[in-house]
Amino acid sequence: MVALVLDTDLAMGAPGSDIDDGFALALAVADPDIDLIAVTTVNGNTDVDTATILTGELLRRLDRQGIPVHRGAELPLLRPKARPRPPTPDVADPDFRGTTPEPAAAALVRLIRDNPHQITIVAVGPLTNIALALRLDPGIAELVREVVVMGGVFLGQTNRRDMPGEFNIWVDPEAAQIVVGSGVPLRFVGLDVTLRVRLSTADAQALEDSDSPFARFAGQHTRAWIAHQAEAHPGSEVDRDSCAMHDPLAVAAVTHPELLQWAPAHVAFATGSERTRGIAVADLLDSSTPPEPNCRIATDVDAEAFRAHFISRIQSIR
Ligand code: BDR
Ligand code: CA
Repeated sequence: MVALVLDTDLAMGAPGSDIDDGFALALAVADPDIDLIAVTTVNGNTDVDTATILTGELLRRLDRQGIPVHRGAELPLLRPKARPRPPTPDVADPDFRGTTPEPAAAALVRLIRDNPHQITIVAVGPLTNIALALRLDPGIAELVREVVVMGGVFLGQTNRRDMPGEFNIWVDPEAAQIVVGSGVPLRFVGLDVTLRVRLSTADAQALEDSDSPFARFAGQHTRAWIAHQAEAHPGSEVDRDSCAMHDPLAVAAVTHPELLQWAPAHVAFATGSERTRGIAVADLLDSSTPPEPNCRIATDVDAEAFRAHFISRIQSIR
């Protein structure tokens, strides 16, 4: 059983926002080999207050409101802008600010110090909270079991026309650079693999037809998100009949690493101008004088095997 903290910019339930953080949370709850001990929230897909409110709402829906939720960073480390706050979502507790006033970074330090070599962090938003925790207490780098990040694009091309790299790293590249420089045991699940794990409208229909009320809810959100993306990006080459499950793949990588291929690498992120902001430089160590590896990156995925695991777990939620 893996003791896991999910760090997320969850926006499932905010109109027009990505849904995959919500699926990552659901998968973490539904995997019998994961003990989800806390959720930390961060600015990214939406502002941190909305991410916190929607995390509380989703945990209620999953009947796991006992899991602690810690509100995290409102802003990237150096970049001035947070996501603007959308209208407050229609939820049971629109004033939810977490289950405790302890901020995300402090909670991460405490949990890692209290449970040496036991805690795995899966970070599926910008890395601001993780970088802040490493700045508060650099010693936790040696005490955390592992950090698994959904972020970066190392071998292929970005899916965005409006940013040079991948979104989570782009939002807070300085935080990402702190994390890769910290010595923490680290794996990256980047766009190279996550763009290949997708839910189609047929999958949405299958979820909607399921016995599980949660799967029906998830199916409705999937259908709406696919439709939103097709409308928001007319004429785009992106597959118009499906959406990527970026963040759940990072959760699956913890208990099912065999779903992916991994390569040791030395990764750095560009922190300079807007034109290069967040671009990953991945050295795959094949030169005669390679640098020391600072992480492993996912290079390939068995998309069908992931899909089978993922759908069956989501349908198991009652
Ligand atoms: C990442 O950006 C967000 O929109 C998704 O939730 C995922 O974490 C993919 O680039
Ligand atoms: Ca995310």
